[in-house]
Amino acid sequence: MAIERTLSIIKPDATKRNLTGKIVAKFEDAGLRVVASKRIHLTAAQAGEFYAEHQARGFYGELVAYMASEPVVVQVLEGEGAIAKNREVMGATDPAEAAPGTIRKEFALSKGENSAHGSDSEAAAAREIAFFFSGLELVG
Ligand code: CDP
Ligand code: MG
Repeated sequence: MAIERTLSIIKPDATKRNLTGKIVAKFEDAGLRVVASKRIHLTAAQAGEFYAEHQARGFYGELVAYMASEPVVVQVLEGEGAIAKNREVMGATDPAEAAPGTIRKEFALSKGENSAHGSDSEAAAAREIAFFFSGLELVG
């Protein structure tokens, strides 16, 4: 499998509860490497642009407000099959459906406040990494 990079966000519910380290440890234990990282507080406009693909969905307004409610930690994770591995470690969107040991099973509060984001395809990873980081900030 190829070495890939993917965009991870530790979401507001998790930064608020001081879970950043516990979440990063799950990714590192799975063989993913943090090659870029920063803590930022998104504006609603930035959150809305990031999640533009969901604009027509009923949960969009709530999602944007939530993502701008507290700081987030955005990271680029690198490793073998990083895009799929990141999503496996996160677990299903709804914590009620997430597998045991996953981030969302252990930490998520609800389907909306679900502690982590991960890119869902190569195209999404490329767009989302470029949304937050310049090439100079990616240090493998
Ligand atoms: O994050 P993931 O790729 O697993 O799910 P998504 O379908 O791309 O949705 C993006 C985010 O919107 C989720 O992670 C949830 O925070 C939120 N969401 C929600 O609040 N209610 C839903 N029915 C679906 C998603
Ligand atoms: Mg998604």
